Formats: sequence, C-alpha cells, structure tokens
Amino acid sequence: MGLAVIVLAAGEGKRMCSDLPKVLHLLAGRPIISHVIELAQSLSELPPIVVTGYHGDDIRAKFPSENITWVDQKERLGTGHAVAQALKHISKEDTVVVLYGDVPLIRVETLMKMVGSLGLSELSFMTSKVTDPSGYGRILRDSTGKFVGIVEDQDATEKQLLISETNTGIVVASCSILAQMVPLLAADNSQKEYYLTDCAKLARDLKISVGTHELMDPSEAFGINDQVQRAQAERIYQRRNAVTLMRSGVTISDPDRIDVRGNIKCGKNVSIDVNSVFEGSVTLGDDVIIGPNCLITDSIVGKGSQIFGSCVINRAKVGENALVGPFAHLRPGTHLENTVKVGNFVEVKNSTLGAGSKTNHLSYVGDSEVGKNANLGAGTITCNYDGANKHKTVIGDDVFIGSGSILVAPVSIGENATTAAGTTITKDVAEGDLALRRGQQKSIPGWERPRKK
Ligand code: UD1
Ligand code: CA
Repeated sequence: MGLAVIVLAAGEGKRMCSDLPKVLHLLAGRPIISHVIELAQSLSELPPIVVTGYHGDDIRAKFPSENITWVDQKERLGTGHAVAQALKHISKEDTVVVLYGDVPLIRVETLMKMVGSLGLSELSFMTSKVTDPSGYGRILRDSTGKFVGIVEDQDATEKQLLISETNTGIVVASCSILAQMVPLLAADNSQKEYYLTDCAKLARDLKISVGTHELMDPSEAFGINDQVQRAQAERIYQRRNAVTLMRSGVTISDPDRIDVRGNIKCGKNVSIDVNSVFEGSVTLGDDVIIGPNCLITDSIVGKGSQIFGSCVINRAKVGENALVGPFAHLRPGTHLENTVKVGNFVEVKNSTLGAGSKTNHLSYVGDSEVGKNANLGAGTITCNYDGANKHKTVIGDDVFIGSGSILVAPVSIGENATTAAGTTITKDVAEGDLALRRGQQKSIPGWERPRKK
C-alpha cells in the first residue's frame, strides 16, 4: 500500500490578471507549484500526479526532468472531476492525498500527521478555523459537533457564511473509497461543477466513515488567488524561513526584511543585516557578517569574512577573513582567497585574487590571475576585451599596481614588479621592474582660463 499525492492545478487563476498560469507565478523565486510538487515528493516515493488544464504545456515544460505523472483535464468541471481524472493513475490499494497547486505553504509534518490519523475515518478533510472565512467552503456540524458536510461559499446561506471553520481543500482517503464516490458526484450547485467536497455528504449516505483533521497553524492553508495573496504568501514563507535560521543561531536584524529564494546554509554566529536577498544555493561560513542590501546568488562566503552593504555577488567564492564592499560586484568565476580585500565600486569577473591581495577602490578586474599580497591601486582597469576576444591578465605575488593603471591584456606583470600611477601597460613587465609610461609634465605660468562671452 503506497501513498499517492494528487496536485490539482488545472485552474486558470483569473484573478492574477496575467497570461501566465497562476501556479507558475513565483514564490520564493520559483513557481508556486514547484513548492507543492516538492512537498508531494517528500511525502511519498510515488511520482506525484499533477492535474493541469489551462496552459498545461507551459507548466509541464518547467519540470522536464522530474518524475511526475501529468494528467490533462480537458474540461475544468470542478475539483471532484479533476480528482476523478487522477484516480485512473492510482492503484486501488493506495492512500490518496489531494493537494492544491495554489496552496503551497502546507508543512510535510502536518500532512504526515493527517495521513497517520486516517485509520479513524476513511475519508478526511483538513479544516482550519480562520478569522476571515470568506471565499472558503464552510464546515457543517450538527448540534453534537459531528461533521456533516461542506457548503461552498457560493452556495451557503447567510447563517452558514458566519461559520469560521473552513475547508482547506486538502483531503486524505483511500483510493478505493474515492473511486467509489467520485462517479456519484452531481453538478447540482451554483457553479455547475463537480465538487470534491460533496464527498462528505455522499460518504454519510454510503455509511463510509468521514471526519476532519484540524490544521493548527491556519497560515499553512493560505491559498494564492491574486497578486495580493501571492505577496502575503511570500512573507509567510520568508518569515518562516527566517525563524528557522534564527532558531539555528543566525542573527537576523529584521526577519521581515530578508528574502531567501533558494537554500542558505549558515555556520555559527552568522549575522545578516536588513534587506539582503539570497538566491540559489548560498553558504555562509562561521562568523560571516552580511551588511544591508546585498544580493548574493549561488556563492560561498568563507569563515570570518565580512560583506559590507550593497554588494552583488553572483557565483563567486570568497575565502576566509576577506572584506568585500560596500558597493562591490563579484561576478561569476570570481575567487577571492583568504584575507583579500575588495573595496567600493570594484567589479571582479572570472578572476582569482591570491591571499592578502587588495583592490580597494573603483577598479575592474576581469579574466585575471592575481597572486598573493598584490596591491591594485585605485582605478586599476584590466582591459580584457579587444572587441572580439577576451584576454588574460596575470599579476604576480607582491606586485604593486599604481593608481589609474590600464593593463591591456594579454599581459603579465612579474612578481614584485611595480607600475607607476597613470601608466598604460601593453607589454609584459619583468619581475621586480618598475614600468612607467607618462608624458612629460609641463607648466605654463600665469595661464588664463577662457571666459564666458
Ligand atoms: C476549493 C474548495 C473549498 C475550499 C477551497 C480552499 C471545492 C468544491 N471547494 O474551493 O471548499 O475551501 O478550495 O482553497 O473543492 N481545479 C482543477 N480542476 C477543476 C477545478 C479546480 O484542477 O476543474 C483546481 C484549481 O486549479 C485549484 C484547486 O483545484 O488549484 C481548487 O479550485 P478552485 O476553483 O480554486 O476552488 P475554490 O473555489 O478555491
Ligand atoms: Ca482557490
């Protein structure tokens, strides 16, 4: 007996006012539905069964390598109809969990608990008590509190609309029970749809035991129907993530001002200031300090390093005890070894800077190999591109590049060599040499500047 997870995602999502199907809008940097698919995959080893309809091909195209059973619901005749299409792909002995593509915040532990309690009834609806139940199906109970059915918002009476216990939409049941019931559903309601929720009433008629499972944290059932709710879901997601990080010891200046769009791994005593965004896979070593307003993507920052405010770091590796920024841009292929300093308004691309080297102000270092303890003065520019091809600059250990030096690649500066400030280097410089190229300075005494006529 296995666990089969159905994900319903055939709806259009009209209220998003967008050509993009709703479930492909982003939550934490990836499609909303990818969170639900991931959830399904951590619940069960069986491939999730995803029901699509509106722009189904676009949704499928986002998951080219995942093991997913896709079901095309040609006509969107309701949640009951959607589940009926999916059941054809599930073995009768399996237990079924129904999830919604637009309800991405549910926790796997919550679902496991619900699945675990299924023995108590054969069909179970997850419910949630909320302060604003509008839009949701309402849970109906008799005077003894026994669950008797679900009425949809559109079909509810004035009195029923006051009920605060709602249907989250999540259902757990055995496949055979569902398969027995869904063909019996009728579309006799205001929306002329086959409601999955009508199984509650049917179960009672068929003497099948039916129950509810109350969700303790209503935010888990938060559904996304429009852009406002997407943004609210984003904050719920981000806050939850920030709480997990803080519980593991990370200092976060303000948990409402951090965005993790991927995975972040933090060592001990890491501190993150406000408004930073982490994308893809980011690793921060022990004692790392991240200043405000940084964007860090697929990068590693070594132990003890400090990233000052407003840096953009993309596919770069920063060693230990390095100092970066403020306003530095580390582009793909940057590798800063230990104790390197990269200061303000410096861009580094596809380059390695050896231990202890510095480039502190207003420089571009591209396609370069810089040795240890080199000092690149303010305004050093590696001219790596001739308009057609990229060329390499090699700078040896202990080199001193004077401010405003232009290094026209391919070029190499030998160990311990010096370039004078304002020099354009077009030929290799040998070890220990000083390279200098400057016009003679001359002065014209008593010079009168032109005046406005
Ligand atoms: C549904 C529930 C409601 C519950 C609410 C929770 C029913 C009848 N109602 O209402 O009790 O409170 O969810 O969010 O089940 N879908 C399909 N095919 C269809 C119709 C819908 O795949 O033919 C998918 C949608 O893409 C969506 C999900 O099923 O992901 C829910 O459909 P939606 O129309 O949004 O139902 P609600 O009115 O929100
Ligand atoms: Ca909905």
